[in-house]
Amino acid sequence: MLTPSPLPAPTLIQLTPEHAGACLELDRAALGGIWSLAQWQRELEEQARPCLGLCQGLDLLAMACGWLVVDELHITLVAVAREHRRRGLGRRILEELMQTGFRRGATRATLEVAARNGPGKGLYEALGFRTAGIRHGYYRNGEDALIQWVNLNR
Ligand SMILES: CC(C)(COP(=O)(O)OP(=O)(O)OC[C@H]1O[C@@H](n2cnc3c(N)ncnc32)[C@H](O)[C@@H]1OP(=O)(O)O)[C@@H](O)C(=O)NCCC(=O)NCCS
Repeated sequence: MLTPSPLPAPTLIQLTPEHAGACLELDRAALGGIWSLAQWQRELEEQARPCLGLCQGLDLLAMACGWLVVDELHITLVAVAREHRRRGLGRRILEELMQTGFRRGATRATLEVAARNGPGKGLYEALGFRTAGIRHGYYRNGEDALIQWVNLNR
């Protein structure tokens, strides 16, 4: 009997305004909808805001976005579709975004993560991010935000 062939590895793409609908869908499913469609369209057309995706066929499985501010990469969003988590996609897409930032002149990267976001904190710690400060009650639900940084010139 033939064994089914494994699915091909997801393909890395640069997300552009034509992907705004897919980004909105993944944003809603993974993060409860941080940005509106209009915000996604603006985000994806700005040169200083690199946004990468991992796709399988037409499906967007993971995405990571950042904002280049002189020599800093501000990571604004990382999300993986629920059914594809714990397969290394979060790590891969974030590493790719950090490399993109480094190639474009960033020497460090920063982000904010909710103090109770175990998976997010686990991913960022695995990639070397360390907490440098806390914004108390930063999120709408009153949760604290941890401000984290990592050097990119390693
Ligand atoms: C956070 C998130 C992006 C992780 O994506 P993922 O593809 O599941 O992560 P990976 O499989 O690449 O995991 C890489 C490392 O992160 C850590 N990690 C990932 N998920 C974790 C979890 N549930 N608990 C603890 N650590 C976790 C581990 O160190 C893991 O390495 P390991 O698998 O060798 O143990 C995903 O859970 C997600 O989309 N969550 C909702 C959105 C979100 O919270 N985004 C971050 C804040 S903006």
